[in-house]
Amino acid sequence: MAPNNPIYQEAFSKYKDKIIDGRLISGKIESGLYGRVLGLKKKGIIPSVSVILVEGDKASSIYVRNKELSAQRCDILSQKYSYPATVTERELLNKIDELNNDTLVHGILVQVPLPAHISEKNIMNAISPLKDVDGFHPLNAGKIFTGDSPFYPCTPYGIIKMLEFYDITVKGKNCAIIGQSNIVGKPLSIMLMNRLATVMSLNIFTENIKGFTRKADILISAAGKPGLVDGSFIKKGCVVIDVGISRVGGKIRGDADFEGIIDKVSKITPVPGGVGPVTVSILMENTIKAAELLK
Ligand code: GUN
Repeated sequence: MAPNNPIYQEAFSKYKDKIIDGRLISGKIESGLYGRVLGLKKKGIIPSVSVILVEGDKASSIYVRNKELSAQRCDILSQKYSYPATVTERELLNKIDELNNDTLVHGILVQVPLPAHISEKNIMNAISPLKDVDGFHPLNAGKIFTGDSPFYPCTPYGIIKMLEFYDITVKGKNCAIIGQSNIVGKPLSIMLMNRLATVMSLNIFTENIKGFTRKADILISAAGKPGLVDGSFIKKGCVVIDVGISRVGGKIRGDADFEGIIDKVSKITPVPGGVGPVTVSILMENTIKAAELLK
């Protein structure tokens, strides 16, 4: 389904064969979860995710709203705890402690970025690894190395699912990732390496970045720089996964210059309607897994 944005509706129909349709995939993931939710309910378990939002970041509020809507569609309980930007680290740690000990809560997520006076590391370390549906706790993040984390971070895992959905093989392929964040770039690098891809981990300071990206069969951009990936970055036939979400003149834009590269790519994720919706449905899958594991 195309997003309700005329530009993207046009792009969806015009370039149908090239679009990696995130809404289609997220719909399939969500419907695939239905049976598991029913199974849990038969045992008297209602899967539940608690989301902590510190106000101030406009994009975060939208992401959290999308997570709540997906939970509603999946019949998962979601509880949002909103705090002003002046909240202290101690207050958040107290809330996390309370949620860790609440047997009716299966998943806990603290939306980032957090204000500068709060240590994201301290917050992520405080979430019980058994309820860490973001997969950010160091214990779970470490297990990405060995391929046996109970919860893979939602965006990278969603990207893997999107590639699988379109039968895009990563084994033996050159994959370039722009961005080395703990949320996307780093875990995705490892997850692709575990699937025998050749991974180039790049950032906006990488010298001669195009020399690397032009060798890529699959280019993933998570730089948050609208229009960064233009035709000079890619080789013909490349698959482009655009993780960037920026607001430019009231419109949401990805890192890729969509119109400028569409003729060169073999497949591309649109923004919006690409990686975002899949990320959210993976969070639901992780929440159900947390409920199944806790029993
Ligand atoms: N901010 C941007 N992406 C994410 C995510 O996947 N999880 C959390 N907690 N915060 C985010």
